[in-house]
Amino acid sequence: MSAVPGKTFYLETFGCQMNVHDSEKVIGTLVHEGYEQVQTVEQADLILYNTCSIRDKAEQKVFNRLNDYKKLLKQGKRFGVLGCVAQQEGEKIFERAPHVSLVCGSASYRNLPQMLAELENAQIEAPKPAGRKAELANLVRITGLDDRETDACFETEFTARTNPHRGYITIIEGCDKFCAYCVVPFTRGKERSRTSDSVLAEARQMADLGYTEIQLLGQNVNSYKDPAGKPGGKKTFAELLASVGEVPGIRRVRFTTSHPRDFGRDIIDAIDAVPTLCDHVHLPVQSGSDRVLAAMQRLYTRDQYLERISWMKSAKRPLSITSDIIVGFPGETEQDFADTLSLLDEVGYDAVFTFKYSPRPNTPSLALEDAIPDQEKARRLEVIMSHQKDIQIIRYKKYIGSELEVMVEGKNEARKQWIGRTSHNKTLNFAAPDSSVPQVGSYVKVRATQSFPNSLLGELVI
Ligand code: SAH
Ligand code: SF4
Ligand code: F3S
Repeated sequence: MSAVPGKTFYLETFGCQMNVHDSEKVIGTLVHEGYEQVQTVEQADLILYNTCSIRDKAEQKVFNRLNDYKKLLKQGKRFGVLGCVAQQEGEKIFERAPHVSLVCGSASYRNLPQMLAELENAQIEAPKPAGRKAELANLVRITGLDDRETDACFETEFTARTNPHRGYITIIEGCDKFCAYCVVPFTRGKERSRTSDSVLAEARQMADLGYTEIQLLGQNVNSYKDPAGKPGGKKTFAELLASVGEVPGIRRVRFTTSHPRDFGRDIIDAIDAVPTLCDHVHLPVQSGSDRVLAAMQRLYTRDQYLERISWMKSAKRPLSITSDIIVGFPGETEQDFADTLSLLDEVGYDAVFTFKYSPRPNTPSLALEDAIPDQEKARRLEVIMSHQKDIQIIRYKKYIGSELEVMVEGKNEARKQWIGRTSHNKTLNFAAPDSSVPQVGSYVKVRATQSFPNSLLGELVI
């Protein structure tokens, strides 16, 4: 298909799964509007960045990108900033990067078709200015920022999913938790849930299209509140999870992210009852110290967190548990840090994502002095990562000799290995004889023969 002149776009995505999935919806919406997606900035008329603001580094990335390509403005290309930096910085983006024409936060994506039409019209009507200054002065500036208090979710029938076997479904947008360090409540606005009917309709539609794995998404899936009007028809998160797992054709269901405060035992009951719900829970703890947890406004104590872990450990199937940790939060002492290390031992995580505390605009902890030097944060990060690596070496070893079902994700040609993913969300690479080549997207049994800190190696069971 040849591109309509002026209607090609390039979109680069930064940040979490919510952003990745939002981009799939944005792409679908743009394609429906007659745009064509291209894979390079050079081919594109419209260059879009779907941005992340969770740490300062993430925010800097987009301004670096914008700076790298600003010279393309004189070729008639236009620039748009979407996502969390767009919502956070708003019109200030036009000052920091004057060649940007469109700034749109996630709560306004459903207005993208009108905003793009406005952009196109402005371009058709504008006389061609001479010189960069005149060009910048003439540039139309469009914003979609006023919807943070919206009750609506960005639901679209045009989602352009990139993987034909495994796909995301958003069940709740925004976050009302206001953890002291976090920008998300400011960038994605207040919590709003989709109806369970609409989530289930999308799950059924995906199953009809051949999807077998669904990942339910939200900044805080446990605070899901079904807005369905039918009396008695409202589902809790655990009920919704179970219902998605019971959709014919769906073989695996994952969910992210859970907040410990709202994590109910009924989620474990659902995992026990419905075999398609995966053997994995990601439950970010952030710190093992009660003092730091209180300062972070996380709304739970170490003991309450460990109670949730004990529910998981009493599940009928062994569950894999993973977490996020922030080091160097203002006031974190050596003792606090030692408490986090001991929590790692107590829980026995299969993976931990560790971050250095980064002060963020608008957040409550911005008022606290960020007194721990970067070097010390880096040291704590190192210590945690190496401690966790030792834990994982032991945990992964236990799988040697066992037979695990994997979804085949692809092939590493250089290593002549197939790439598989277990229900625990572990990578299990494996060899298969030429006589039984596995299909990408299929489920096969693999016997684990070797373990590493982050993956397993095995052989196809024939
Ligand atoms: N909604 C999820 C994920 C939020 S963002 C949750 O509540 O867990 C993903 C992770 O980024 C967080 O779990 C936290 O560990 C980290 N993070 C968030 N803000 C941060 C900040 N200001 N500095 C460093 N890490 C941060
Ligand atoms: Fe941020 Fe806390 Fe909300 Fe997670 S729960 S998105 S860390 S405010
Ligand atoms: Fe980043 Fe926004 Fe996600 S800040 S982590 S893209 S919600």
